[in-house]
Amino acid sequence: MTTRLVLVSLCLPWFCLAETTWSPSRWFWRRATRDVPSEGFHNPLDKGGSMLTQIPVTFPEGLGEPLNVIISGNSDEQVLKETETDGGLLNFFLSFGFSSECLGQHMGSNQAANLGDGHGYLNETAVIRWNYGDPALGACKESIEGGNHFRYWVQNGPEGNSGSIFMAVSYELPISLGHDIVANGYNFGRDWLVGNMTNTTVPTAELTNTTTYTTNTFWGGYTYLSEIKYVSGLLSNSSDGINHYITVGLNGTNAIDGLVAVITTKITARPASSSAIWTATPFSLWTCIFIIFVSSASAVIAYV
Ligand SMILES: *[C@@H]1O[C@H](CO)[C@@H](O)[C@H](O)[C@H]1NC(C)=O
Ligand SMILES: *[C@@H]1O[C@H](CO)[C@@H](O)[C@H](O)[C@H]1NC(C)=O
Ligand SMILES: *[C@@H]1O[C@H](CO)[C@@H](O)[C@H](O)[C@H]1NC(C)=O
Ligand SMILES: *[C@@H]1O[C@H](CO)[C@@H](O)[C@H](O)[C@H]1NC(C)=O
Ligand SMILES: *[C@@H]1O[C@H](CO)[C@@H](O)[C@H](O)[C@H]1NC(C)=O
Ligand SMILES: *[C@@H]1O[C@H](CO)[C@@H](O)[C@H](O)[C@H]1NC(C)=O
Repeated sequence: MTTRLVLVSLCLPWFCLAETTWSPSRWFWRRATRDVPSEGFHNPLDKGGSMLTQIPVTFPEGLGEPLNVIISGNSDEQVLKETETDGGLLNFFLSFGFSSECLGQHMGSNQAANLGDGHGYLNETAVIRWNYGDPALGACKESIEGGNHFRYWVQNGPEGNSGSIFMAVSYELPISLGHDIVANGYNFGRDWLVGNMTNTTVPTAELTNTTTYTTNTFWGGYTYLSEIKYVSGLLSNSSDGINHYITVGLNGTNAIDGLVAVITTKITARPASSSAIWTATPFSLWTCIFIIFVSSASAVIAYV
């Protein structure tokens, strides 16, 4: 009798663990798992997507803005979560001076992007603006005075769920000038954003597909270690199809240089109060650990 009880006590926890690891309910409750290729994202062009956004009205029609920065799916899971808490994406944006829109108001028109992930064209998830050093109200100033800003989309569709973030970054003129883009404003927007991350001046004219940076940024007690790699081959070095191409590429230069800054970010330090293990371990696993503990204890007691 006692032996049987001991056996049952010892076996139960392992059923529990197997259930936690394999059960379909786990897949139901969890978001579908990401599939991340070694580059950190799926090339939208591989599945009918585009590296240019769609804008409702352009002259001539059909022009778009380049998706010129990508936060790689190889970044920490926590960084890719669209939250301001727990070191999530919005906290990461704040770590290099970018805030959500002024008082939660959405200004300006929507743009749509097709990341080739099976979702087709979707409007941007949000518009994020350089905050002039004022996280609370700086984005308001940017909406009026112009400056650096970006729209972003998440590559998380059924045909390419890398979890990576695609950003269309540009430096715009003040609202009084109709929010056009400054000369070279796509390349500058990208490079001033990278400059904000690295606290250096990024030499736009000298960048190549071998340029890299490594930098730390900080916000809300989190430290982010980012590797930034400029890559070619996703966008072309030209003005073809680019919105505002006449004013952006002055003197016959191309409106964009064809480089995309790919950022891979890891969290290297957290506020003392948050424990990585605790937040990273699913509830059901804690339940299991508890059951293992209790049944081991009862096994020992039964045996004794
Ligand atoms: C996207 O934004 C446009 C306005 O810019 C709006 O007309 C359209 O309904 C939006 N699409 C979706 C799917 O929300
Ligand atoms: C950025 O660099 C300047 C000098 O180049 C320095 O004074 C400043 O403290 C730096 N800021 C940060 C956040 O490291
Ligand atoms: C941060 O970006 C703004 C414009 O977007 C720029 O004026 C400022 O010089 C940048 N800071 C650094 C350190 O690059
Ligand atoms: C960099 O660009 C050149 C063409 O300008 C190309 O031949 C080379 O393969 C590219 N390198 C990488 C690592 O993409
Ligand atoms: C275009 O050329 C003019 C005159 O040569 C020069 O003043 C201006 O700075 C140039 N603009 C750009 C963006 O290179
Ligand atoms: C883009 O093309 C121009 C010539 O059209 C060239 O001078 C420039 O170096 C190219 N830039 C990159 C990043 O390949």
